[in-house]
Amino acid sequence: MQQEIKKHFVEHFQKEGQMYASAGRINLIGEHTDYNGGFVFPGAIDKGMIAMISLNGTDKVRAYSVDLDDYTEFGFNEEDAPAQSWARYIFGVCREIIKRSGNVLKGFDTAFAGDVPLGAGMSSSAALESTYAFALNDIFELNIDKFELAKIGQATEHNYCGVKCGIMDQFASIFGKEGHLMRLDCRSMEFEYFPFDPKGYKVVLLDSVVKHELASSAYNRRRESCENVCNVMRENGYPKVEFLRDANLDMLEAVKDKITEEDYCRAKYVIEEVQRVLDVCDALNAGDYETVGEKMYQTHAGMSKLYEVSCQELDFLNDIARECGVTGSRVMGGGFGGCTINLVKEELYENFLNVAKVRFTEKFGHEPKIYPVVISNGARKL
Ligand code: GLA
Repeated sequence: MQQEIKKHFVEHFQKEGQMYASAGRINLIGEHTDYNGGFVFPGAIDKGMIAMISLNGTDKVRAYSVDLDDYTEFGFNEEDAPAQSWARYIFGVCREIIKRSGNVLKGFDTAFAGDVPLGAGMSSSAALESTYAFALNDIFELNIDKFELAKIGQATEHNYCGVKCGIMDQFASIFGKEGHLMRLDCRSMEFEYFPFDPKGYKVVLLDSVVKHELASSAYNRRRESCENVCNVMRENGYPKVEFLRDANLDMLEAVKDKITEEDYCRAKYVIEEVQRVLDVCDALNAGDYETVGEKMYQTHAGMSKLYEVSCQELDFLNDIARECGVTGSRVMGGGFGGCTINLVKEELYENFLNVAKVRFTEKFGHEPKIYPVVISNGARKL
């Protein structure tokens, strides 16, 4: 991929530049908990984005997407926002840097490409944001700390792409470390690297290749439900509930008749999921993969029935995993399509993949895509 990017860069700009990269992510458990102040457990993967960048002596960015064969130019002012959604990620990162550090950027040329499948729940957009946040910080010697780089990516999603996401994806993409997952407390932002090499097991993603329209507005509505419930709790005897992380099931029961059935279900899922991350960490420390797996199935059930971010293709893949004796399986990421993440005993691996391929194809007319997981490094200069 690096050669390909370099070739296009030279073709467009008649020079070479510096290369930077960042990664997509998996998340073992802790879904939709980040914007609720809870815990997540992600790791960066060996699929990501690579960009070549070089200053161009103007006040404009000239950007080329190798994968889409699309080119655009834009300035740094708010009214210069490009029309193409891929370019808005780069523009948003520039704007967010300027908001924090002043007029510190100068025009640059860039070409980029990636191998994170789009819409598969592996955070291709966070990989793109993190690549540019990391690169521009390095090139312009801005000394922005790594958490702030992650927040620049998150703010790009909020302000330029319409998704009110949490911090997990950008955090994983910036902080990722080979062979390690990270347990992040999304309220205090404290985190711990966890070596992750489950002996006798493999982790594999099965991509339904389904991407649902309106996923971002559905995502934002989930977040609103969580905030509604926190508001109601604060007004009804629990003034300290800043996030659902601060609530428990008894508190939820106490306000049940003051919230909608839908909001009740959403909050129940989140409260249970925050606890599941902690349980999984304990189980991992004890080498108890059966418990890890059972928690993953519980997450799937919660995401499907209570949080309602699964779909029939993902539910089907989850059912097949259970039938094949897979230790743990669940929909991964925001949901509304994308992948399941599966923790599979090595001796069951081949059979599971074969059965999943055949049965899924019979039912939905296309094969699921299969991605073995390799936990890798996050943002870096190449
Ligand atoms: C998306 C968001 C994350 C997180 C997950 C669900 O990937 O970008 O912040 O909320 O969904 O866990």
